[in-house]
This record gives sequence, structure tokens and C-alpha cells, in this order.
Amino acid sequence: MLKQTSLLLAVVFVTGLFCSVVAQEKEGNEKAMTYGGVATCKACHMTKKSGAQYKLWKAGPHAKAFAVLKSPEAMEIAKAKGIEDPATADACLKCHVTAHGVSASLKGKKFKVSDGVGCESCHGPGSAYKGKKVMVAITAGEADGAKYGLVMPTEEVCIACHNEESPTYKEFDFKKRVVEIAHPVPKKES
Ligand code: HEC
Ligand code: HEC
Ligand code: HEC
Ligand code: HEC
Repeated sequence: MLKQTSLLLAVVFVTGLFCSVVAQEKEGNEKAMTYGGVATCKACHMTKKSGAQYKLWKAGPHAKAFAVLKSPEAMEIAKAKGIEDPATADACLKCHVTAHGVSASLKGKKFKVSDGVGCESCHGPGSAYKGKKVMVAITAGEADGAKYGLVMPTEEVCIACHNEESPTYKEFDFKKRVVEIAHPVPKKES
């Protein structure tokens, strides 16, 4: 009897251990996708040959999205809502920076709030897809970008921010607006 009970206990214990290992692994995989910040992408997406996505982004509206919260216009909008400092208010930051509300532990050392709406706001956290091999395989259609967290943004991504909750909302026509922020990879000469 005693033997049987301890055998049963041992089985329960081992099963429990196994389950918690599986749970930890699952958690670990989800945790693996982190935001490295624009600096991570800049390294490979800066040259003319690559399409200079970094430079186009830097010169465009999204790179200024955090800075604009310190403008007199932002202060006025905020004041009317009883918000003292728009650059620290959740009500403004949620659309003006990357991954607002995401735990700091999922943001890398190079991640900067001051980069505003960075690459990963639209393309997803880069930790799993930013390796050159993976990037090339996804582009060639040999790997599924979604598995590595890469998003090829559709209208849904944009209207998460470009909607009537924005105090300065301008009607959003995806087809027109997407052209204004275009940053294509140049066609390869052959
Ligand atoms: C180690 C270099 C490297 C880094 C770092 C890198 N990329 Fe890439 N990426 C590439 C290369 C190479 C390609 C393939 C482009 C080509 O065919 O010319 C690519 C392709 C892409 C594509 C196109 C995918 C497709 O299906 O067409 C996107 C989007 C992209 N990168 C976004 C990013 C973002 C966002 C980051 C930062 C989180 C990033 N990349 C970091 C090298 C890199
Ligand atoms: C995380 C929030 C967020 C997402 C996602 C986002 N945007 Fe924006 N966008 C902004 C903010 C904030 C500004 C204003 C920045 C400024 O004025 O400095 C802006 C400005 C713009 C502008 C400049 C013209 C204007 O309306 O003032 C264009 C064009 C634009 N976005 C297009 C897009 C497109 C296309 C997408 C989707 C592919 C997109 N945005 C996704 C937050 C976002
Ligand atoms: C739902 C997302 C969202 C929220 C919340 C939000 N913004 Fe914006 N903000 C945008 C977008 C998108 C733009 C680009 C213009 C537009 O709305 O189409 C923008 C543009 C701006 C601009 C630039 C002026 C302009 O006309 O382009 C200022 C200033 C600004 N926002 C201030 C604020 C302040 C202050 C708050 C907080 C009280 C705030 N925003 C909250 C999305 C948002
Ligand atoms: C406001 C949203 C937004 C931001 C911010 C953004 N992108 Fe994109 N990106 C897009 C959209 C939309 C496309 C086109 C998707 C498609 O073709 O289906 C795209 C396409 C790309 C492509 C593929 C181009 C091609 O010709 O296939 C690359 C590479 C890329 N982005 C890199 C970057 C990098 C690097 C950054 C930051 C420096 C960045 N993107 C920031 C929305 C964004």
C-alpha cells in the first residue's frame, strides 16, 4: 500500500514537473519577440541599394511623432483635455510611440521612446526576424514572415492610430496615405 502510494506520488510529481517545463517553454517562446528599436533596423536598411528605408522613415512624419507631443499645438490639445504633459500621458503616447503599454522587459537597450512611431510599430517586434538569413528567406517567399513576427502592414495596422480617437483626426484614405510613406526595396537589375 505504502509502495503504491509513493509510486502514485512520484507519477504525479513527474507529470507536474513536465507540465511546468512545457508551460515555461511556451512562455519563453512568446517572450522571445522583443522590440529592438529603430537602430536595429537601421543597420541594414540604410543604403541606397537596400532602398534607404531608414532615411525615408527619418524624414517622414512617424519619426517626429514623439517630438510633436512637445509642440505648442500638443500642449493646447492636452490642456483642453485636462492633461498636463502630453509627452508622458498614456492618452497621447498610445498612438505617438512604438509599443506603448508593452512591458519594458520586452524592449531592448537601443529602444528609444523618442523615436516615435518606429519600424516595429508597423512591422512588429523584430527580435526573431531581424537576422539576415531570415530576412532574405522571408523576402524570397521561402519563410513565413508571420512565424517570425514580421507584419506586412495592411490598412488595419494604420487605422489602429489613424482614427477618430485622434484629437487632430484627418480622414484616412489608405491608398493615398500609404504612398506618402512608401519605402520600397529597389527592383534588382538583371
Ligand atoms: C542583418 C540585416 C538586417 C536587419 C538588422 C534587418 N533587416 Fe529587414 N531585410 C534585410 C534584407 C537583406 C532583406 C531583403 C531585402 C532585399 O531583397 O533586398 C530585408 C527585408 C525586409 C522586409 C521585406 C520583407 C518582404 O517580405 O518583402 C521588411 C519589411 C524588413 N526587412 C523590415 C525590417 C525591420 C522592421 C527591421 C528592424 C526590426 C529589419 N528589417 C532589420 C536585412 C535586415
Ligand atoms: C502607432 C500609431 C501609428 C500607426 C500604426 C500609423 N501611424 Fe501614421 N501617423 C501617426 C502619428 C502620431 C502621426 C503624426 C505625426 C506627426 O505629425 O509628427 C502620423 C502621420 C502620418 C502621415 C502624415 C500625414 C498626416 O496624416 O498627418 C501619414 C501619411 C501616415 N501617418 C500614414 C500612415 C500609414 C499609411 C500607416 C499604415 C501603413 C500609418 N500611418 C500607421 C501614427 C501612426
Ligand atoms: C488614436 C490615436 C491617437 C491618439 C490617442 C492621439 N493622437 Fe495625436 N495624432 C494621431 C495621428 C494619426 C496623427 C496624424 C494626424 C491625424 O490625426 O490624422 C496625430 C497628430 C498629432 C499632432 C500633429 C498635428 C497634426 O495635425 O498632424 C499633434 C500635435 C497631436 N497629434 C497631439 C496629440 C495629443 C496632445 C494627444 C493626447 C491628448 C494625442 N495627439 C493623442 C493619433 C493619435
Ligand atoms: C507607418 C507604418 C510603417 C513604418 C513606421 C515602417 N514601415 Fe516599412 N512598410 C510599411 C508598409 C505599408 C509597407 C508595404 C507593405 C506591402 O507592400 O504589403 C512596408 C514595406 C517595407 C519593406 C518592403 C518594401 C518592398 O518593396 O517590398 C521594407 C524593407 C520595410 N518596409 C522596412 C521598414 C523599415 C526598416 C522601417 C523603419 C526604418 C519601416 N519599414 C517603417 C509600413 C511601415
